Amino acid sequence: MSIPTSQRALILPQKHGKFIVETYPVEKPGTGELLVRIESVSLNPIDWIVQALGVLITDYPAILGLDSAGVVAAVGEGVTSFAVGDKVLNQGSLAPRQGTFKQYTYVTADSAAKIPANLNFDQAATVPLCLATAAVGLYAQPGGGGGAGLIPAWETEGRGKYAGQTIVIFGGATSVGQFVIQLAKLSGFSTIVTTVSPHNNTLVKSLGATHMFDRRLSSQEIFNEIRKIASDSVKIAYAIAGDPLIQDLAYDLVASGGTVVSVLPSQIPQEKLTPDKKFVTVNGNFRTPEKRALGVSLYSRLPELLASGELKPTSVEVLPGGLYAIAEGLERMKKGEISAGFNTESICMTLCETRT
Ligand SMILES: NC(=O)c1ccc[n+]([C@@H]2O[C@H](COP(=O)([O-])OP(=O)(O)OC[C@H]3O[C@@H](n4cnc5c(N)ncnc54)[C@H](OP(=O)(O)O)[C@@H]3O)[C@@H](O)[C@H]2O)c1
Repeated sequence: MSIPTSQRALILPQKHGKFIVETYPVEKPGTGELLVRIESVSLNPIDWIVQALGVLITDYPAILGLDSAGVVAAVGEGVTSFAVGDKVLNQGSLAPRQGTFKQYTYVTADSAAKIPANLNFDQAATVPLCLATAAVGLYAQPGGGGGAGLIPAWETEGRGKYAGQTIVIFGGATSVGQFVIQLAKLSGFSTIVTTVSPHNNTLVKSLGATHMFDRRLSSQEIFNEIRKIASDSVKIAYAIAGDPLIQDLAYDLVASGGTVVSVLPSQIPQEKLTPDKKFVTVNGNFRTPEKRALGVSLYSRLPELLASGELKPTSVEVLPGGLYAIAEGLERMKKGEISAGFNTESICMTLCETRT
C-alpha cells in the first residue's frame, strides 16, 4: 500500500476555535506501531465538549477524535501480529498524532483489534471509547484505575461470576451504557436495571437489561421504583446520564461493599461518603499505567467477542461528507439530538473519508 507524505486532518486551531480541514504530515509508524488508514470514525460528546468548553487540551492546534476503524497501511519495526491490509479498530487519544479526525493515525499494535467479518467499518468505529469506558468502570481497580475492580468478563474466572447480583445503569441507551449492559450480562449479573426513554426498552432488553425505567421520571420516582426490585442488593450503580441528583441516588442505592461508577467527578457532599461504599470516576483511556494491561487483555479477546455477537456495536447513522461533516454532527450531539431511538439507526455517528 503506498503511503502519502501528507493527509487531510480536521484541525482545531485554538481554544474555542472553529474546526478547519488542513493538510498534516504522514510519517512512518514507530517501533511497535501500526499506521492505519482511517475509513470510519465515531463522534463522541467529548469532541464537542473540548471544542465548546476549551477543557482538557492546552496545546493547540489540536486534532480530536477518539474512535476509528480502518486498514493497516504500514507496520513498524517489531510488529508481528498485524500485516498491511488488515482491518482494525482502535481508540485514539487527544494527542494529535493519535487523534482520529484525520485520514491516518498511529496505534500501538497491542491496542488494536482485527475487525471480524460480521462488522463493517462504521459499526467497528462505534466500539473503542465507549467499550473502554464501560470496561474500565467495571473492571479497572479503584484508585488510579477508576473502576469497580470486578474480574473482567472476558477472563474465564470472571465470566458469569456475579450471578445473583444487581447492577443499576443510569443511561442504558447511551453508547457507553449499551456496552455496560452487555459486559454486565457477560459478568453474570442477574438483575440489570437501567433508565431509558421507553422507545429504547426493546433495544436495551436485547442487550441484557432485565428492568427498564422511564428516564423522564423524577430522580426520586426512579429511586423508589428501583428500591422495589433491588432493596438491598445493588453491587454497582453506573451513572452515565441523568440529572445532577443521579450520583446521590446511585450512592444511596448501592449496598455496603458496593461501588458507584460515574463518568463525571463526584458531586456528592463529602459528609455523605462512607468507608463501606466506593465512588470512582471513570476515565475510558487504557493508556495510563494502571489500565494498560486491562486494555491489552481486552483487545486480545475483542475480535472473538465481536465475532460471536457477545458484544455488539451500537447502531450507526452515517454522516456523508467525511471530515467536513464532523462539526455539524457535533452540533447535533451538543443539542442532545442523538438517541438510540432517534430513528431506526442512530446513536453513534460515523463518517467515511472515502464517501466524501
Ligand atoms: N469519563 C469518560 O471517560 C467518558 C467516556 C465516554 C463518555 N463519557 C460521557 O458519558 C456520557 C455518555 O456518553 P455517550 O457517548 O454514551 O452518550 P450518547 O450515546 O451520545 O448519549 C445519548 C443518549 O443519552 C441518553 N440520555 C440523555 N439524558 C438521559 C437521562 N436523563 N437519563 C438516561 N439517559 C439519558 C439518551 O437516551 P434515550 O434515547 O433513551 O432517551 C440518548 O440515547 C457523556 O456525558 C460523555 O461525555 C465519559
